[in-house]
Amino acid sequence: MHAAADASSVVTTALHGDVLVVTIDNPPVNALGAAVRQGLLAAMQQAQADAAVTAVLLVGAGKAFIAGADIREFGKPPVAPILPEVCRAIENLNKPVVAVLHGAALGGGLEVALSAHYRLALPAATLGLPEVNLGLLPGSGGTQRAPRLMGVQAATTLMLTGQPLKAQAALQAGLVDKLVEGTDPLAAGLAYVRELLAANAPVRRTRDLAIAEPQAALAWLEEQKAETAKKSRGLFSPLKIIECVQAALQLPFDEGMARERALFMECIDSPQRAGLIHAFFAEREVVKVPEAQAAQPRPVASIAVIGGGTMGAGIAVAALDAGLPVTMIERDAESIARGRANVEKVYHALVAKGRMTDAAKAAVMGRYTGSTDYADIAQVDLVIEAVFEDIEVKKAVFRELDRVCKPGAVLATNTSYLDIDAIAASTSRPQDVIGLHFFSPANIMKLLEIVVPAQVAPDVVATAFELAKKLKKVPVRAGVCDGFIGNRILAVYKQAADYLLEDGASPYEIDAAVRGFGFAMGPFQVTDLAGGDIGWATRKRRAATRDPKARYVEIADRICERGWFGQKTGRGFYLYPEGARMGQTDPEVLAIVDAERAKKGVTPRSFTADEIMRRYMAAMVNEGANVVHEGIALRPLDVDVTFVAGYGFPRHRGGPMKWADMTGLPKVLADIEAFAKEDPLFWKPSPLLVQLVREGRNFDSLNQAEKR
Ligand code: 3HC
Ligand code: NAI
Repeated sequence: MHAAADASSVVTTALHGDVLVVTIDNPPVNALGAAVRQGLLAAMQQAQADAAVTAVLLVGAGKAFIAGADIREFGKPPVAPILPEVCRAIENLNKPVVAVLHGAALGGGLEVALSAHYRLALPAATLGLPEVNLGLLPGSGGTQRAPRLMGVQAATTLMLTGQPLKAQAALQAGLVDKLVEGTDPLAAGLAYVRELLAANAPVRRTRDLAIAEPQAALAWLEEQKAETAKKSRGLFSPLKIIECVQAALQLPFDEGMARERALFMECIDSPQRAGLIHAFFAEREVVKVPEAQAAQPRPVASIAVIGGGTMGAGIAVAALDAGLPVTMIERDAESIARGRANVEKVYHALVAKGRMTDAAKAAVMGRYTGSTDYADIAQVDLVIEAVFEDIEVKKAVFRELDRVCKPGAVLATNTSYLDIDAIAASTSRPQDVIGLHFFSPANIMKLLEIVVPAQVAPDVVATAFELAKKLKKVPVRAGVCDGFIGNRILAVYKQAADYLLEDGASPYEIDAAVRGFGFAMGPFQVTDLAGGDIGWATRKRRAATRDPKARYVEIADRICERGWFGQKTGRGFYLYPEGARMGQTDPEVLAIVDAERAKKGVTPRSFTADEIMRRYMAAMVNEGANVVHEGIALRPLDVDVTFVAGYGFPRHRGGPMKWADMTGLPKVLADIEAFAKEDPLFWKPSPLLVQLVREGRNFDSLNQAEKR
């Protein structure tokens, strides 16, 4: 919880000779909450009124200059003064205002700096307009001032990508006037102000600058519209950003500002803003787990990976990229050669694309060791096992690890489904055994499920969270069950998709509906990409324990029986002629589907995209609620982060539980109850969902609401 502050404590002023130093000190990141805005406005009034002041220096205390508007205020009624007014007061001052940027100058923070008359950067400064990541646009003059300073193309790119610039790039782009070495913003800033005063530098307002080549810029913007609409796939704010820049070109400054404000408010009111901001905070909340708060992580300076297949190699790359030395163990000489090649292939591709030098590749591979001898990992701090998904093979590996690894080494498994308690029990040190469930490709995918078995020591859990940070992963704490959080819920909504398929929707209709919702791919496309044989093997494994009364759809089995495993075999639910990555519809698949329906006596009915999504999402949310209810996920937000970071769930919807909150839990429950009339065994309302509806609460009420 960050306590509400008053203006005089978060913005202080001090005269250094004739320079008024205005310090923004609102930990942790100097966000522009109401008190900061009031403080800045008061400081400008003081500077104007005090004849002893000849210039003003804006400086941030701590690590950041200003990281932007206070995101927690969005969605609540605005409190005066609004930020555009503060920026106007800064720009209108009749004495030179200088901003010194030594850390994050993002969003509203950069907009404050753009309103100053001069900008100095230190090397650690990062300058950006990342509002688009929150479903917004720069709403305090960023869309009007940035194009004036850096040109339309560079400014639009800055706003559409949301990617910040480092100090040097910002200097080249014209966003800052000067870059100096150093880490002390006050000293550097004061020296720069003195330099400006000595040179009689005038007040210089960004608003008065003309935009270079306006006609060419307008034509370029027009071209960007189609491109942006395609790239941003249904996102609201990117096109509004373009509209604002058009206004900057076509309207006088004040009218441009009014246009920006109107479009900013439209973004604020959009559900996408609510979803994206939920995702932002949820990704920061997931690391707050009891064990990581209670215990100190063990040091991890070296890693071993057991198995050099798809996952082992990806995990090795993730660790190498984080600067760690990695020893990979494989079964025999041939397998370790393949494991090494799997790792090298990733860096080779980077070199081929010109994104890595040969020397850098050699340096990274210099930290990689391949071996077939467990004795070589006796001293490593942490081991990640990624051998075949077979409990006996895994237990044998863990017995070996138990024999050779030093005391206190963390022993992790990357299993997707297997019982980690049982794996831990095969060692004499279950307190050191944990699940680290990476997602494929492991060097790219952000999600890392940290699976916490019954006997694991808290400092091992803390170590896993620390490792995730080092590997730049988004960690989610999960309990032990079949499939943990993500794959367990996936299995259920995949089943809902199979029922829809058998009941009358084609795989292509289902995939299109799911894409229409915002996922990059539908479930049958995902099956084809991952390989149909993987799910088939799981289904066979589970056949013995399946409830004979439960509905089972055999269509995928019929497809696998033909050897159609998806992209890698050239056909699955789709056809992939000549190795095409985008599949084409396959009449033979539709014939198989028809035959299976006929065999089951199903008369196919039609489903609209909305009907498809209601079932798909109801299944996802209901199992999500079960996962929270059983304590497999700590909070609903952990389910949300799992799906956004690991399953392609559209970030702008916040996650399945946030989606349910925004849809209304009574509505979701009513759907489930209606579906249950057809199939009560599958559609069983989660007790947590029922309870929340009864109490008139939502999932977010379980997300430590006081943090927001
Ligand atoms: N408002 C409120 N809280 C914020 C915040 C913001 N703008 N930015 C960060 N925080 C909080 C985080 O929630 C976190 O809180 P916690 O400790 O309670 O979990 C704390 O500050 C530290 O944040 P991080 O864990 O992210 O710290 P890092 O050091 O890893 O990163 C950062 C710092 C790069 C500044 C990163 O926090 C960040 O990217 N922040 C958001 C920047 C942004 O999007 N700014 C634009 C806001 S919208 C805007 O300005 C609209 C304007 O145009 C009108
Ligand atoms: P894979 O078949 O590509 O690789 C397994 C590797 O382990 C092979 O190279 C094999 O030679 C090696 N191996 C087998 N027994 C060994 C032993 N006793 N000692 C040393 N090496 C041994 O399999 P993949 O896909 O990499 O999966 C590995 C693990 O990761 C499995 O537990 C799987 O469930 C899990 N996983 C897989 C994901 C995926 O998308 N492929 C995603 C997340 C987890």
